[in-house]
Amino acid sequence: MSLTALTIFKKYHQLIVVLVFFINTASAQTSATHDSADPLVVLGQQLFFDTDLSFNRTQSCASCHDPARAFTDTRVNPFNAAASIGADGASLGDRQAPSLSYAAQTPDLHEVEEGVFAGGYFWDGRASSLEQQATSPLYSPVEMALPDASVLKERLFEKDAYKNAFSALFGNNVWNEADALNNAFSSAVAAFQRTSLFSPFDSRYDRYLRGEYKPTLRETIGMGLFFSQGFANCSHCHQLNTLPNSPGETFSNYQYENIGLSVNGALREANGKGADYIDGGFMQQGRFKVPTLRNVAVTAPYMHNGIFNELRTVLLFYNKFNTTGGTSQINPETQQPWGEPEVDAQRNMEKLNGGIPLSRLHMEALEAFMRMLTDQQYEHLLP
Ligand code: HEC
Ligand code: HEC
Repeated sequence: MSLTALTIFKKYHQLIVVLVFFINTASAQTSATHDSADPLVVLGQQLFFDTDLSFNRTQSCASCHDPARAFTDTRVNPFNAAASIGADGASLGDRQAPSLSYAAQTPDLHEVEEGVFAGGYFWDGRASSLEQQATSPLYSPVEMALPDASVLKERLFEKDAYKNAFSALFGNNVWNEADALNNAFSSAVAAFQRTSLFSPFDSRYDRYLRGEYKPTLRETIGMGLFFSQGFANCSHCHQLNTLPNSPGETFSNYQYENIGLSVNGALREANGKGADYIDGGFMQQGRFKVPTLRNVAVTAPYMHNGIFNELRTVLLFYNKFNTTGGTSQINPETQQPWGEPEVDAQRNMEKLNGGIPLSRLHMEALEAFMRMLTDQQYEHLLP
C-alpha cells in the first residue's frame, strides 16, 4: 500500500467500519430495503428501528410505523389501533398513527392564499417540515418519552457506531449542544423517510400510467368517478396536481378540512380524555389534513381518530351528504346514526354536498380504484 493510500485508508477506516456495522445491523433488524448507500440514510434507518431511543427501551419509530404495513401501527390493542400506546405500555393518544408512505412528498407548511394553509406534518399541521417533526415523538410523554436531549446523547453514546457516525457526519460539536444533536437526529431520520422504500410509486395505478398494467372495468370506472368534478368530488381534496392522472400524484392537496366526523367514543373512554374534551386540531378549529390515499386499502382504521374500520364505510359516510332517507344516515359499523360532528364550525359543505348520490356499484368502483393505489410490496395484504 502506498503512503497516500495508507493515509487515506487510515482516515476513512473508521467511517468504513461504522458503515459496515450499520449495514449489517440494519439488515438484521428489518428486511426493509431502499435505494441509498448514503451514510446519512443508513444512520437514519438505524435510528428509526432502535428501541433503545425510548425511555423504557421498548419502542422505536417503527413500533407505531411498521414498514410491513405501510408504516402504520400494527400492534394489537383493544381499540383497533385507532390510537397508539406509548413506550410506557399504558399512555394512549387520541389520534391514529398515519402511514408514513409518501409522507416525505408532503410540501412544507405554507399559505396557499390568505387563511388557507397546506402542507406540514401531523394530522393538524403543527410541524412545518419532516425535519421539524422528527424529534417530537422522541420527547412526547405518550410516545418514546425521553426527558431531554442529554438522555438522547447518553443513549447514542452507548453505541460506538452512533458515536462515530454522528461525529463523522456532523462534526464533534454535535455532542455539545442540544439543538445540534436534535437537528442531526432529524436530518438522518428524515433522509431515511425520503428513500424509495417509503415512496416506490409502483402500485397498479403507477404501472397503469406507465402503460404496464391494464385496469379492470371496475378500476376504470372508479378512476373516472374519483377524478370527476361534481360527481364524487373526491379530487377536490384528494388531488395534488392540476391535471388528473399525473405521474407522482399523492392524492392529497394537503389542505386542512373539517369533514364533520364525530367523536370516537370507544377511544375516548379508553384514553380517559373525558366527555368535555374536544380535539379541535391546531391550526383551524376541527380541521385536519387531507391524507394521502396511497396504500389506503391496507392502512385501516381510517380518519384522524380511527373511527371507521372499512373503506366501504368511509364511502358511505361521504355519500350521506348527498343522500337522504333509507339506511344512508346509518353507520353500518355501529348500526347507529353517523353522529354529530365533534366540531361543527368550518365544515366544507360546498365540497362535501356538491356531488350526486353514489350507487352501490359506484362505491365498489371507487373502492377498486383505491385498492389500485397499493404499492407492490403491500399487494399481498389486500383484503
Ligand atoms: C407511540 C407511537 C408512535 C411512535 C413511537 C412514533 N410515532 Fe410518528 N406518529 C404517531 C401518531 C399517533 C402520529 C399522529 C399524531 C398527530 O397527528 O397528532 C404520528 C405522526 C407522525 C408523522 C406525521 C405524518 C404526516 O403525514 O403528517 C411522521 C412523519 C412521524 N410520525 C414519524 C415518526 C418518527 C420519525 C418517529 C420516531 C422518531 C415516530 N414517528 C415515532 C405515533 C408514533
Ligand atoms: C372537503 C374535502 C374532501 C373531500 C371532497 C373528500 N375527502 Fe376524503 N378526506 C378529507 C379529509 C380532511 C380527511 C381526513 C379527515 C379527518 O381525519 O378528520 C379525509 C379522509 C379520507 C379517507 C381516510 C384516509 C385515512 O388514511 O384515514 C379516505 C379513504 C378518503 N378520505 C377518501 C375519499 C373519497 C373516496 C372521496 C370522494 C368520494 C373523498 N375522500 C372526498 C377530505 C376530503
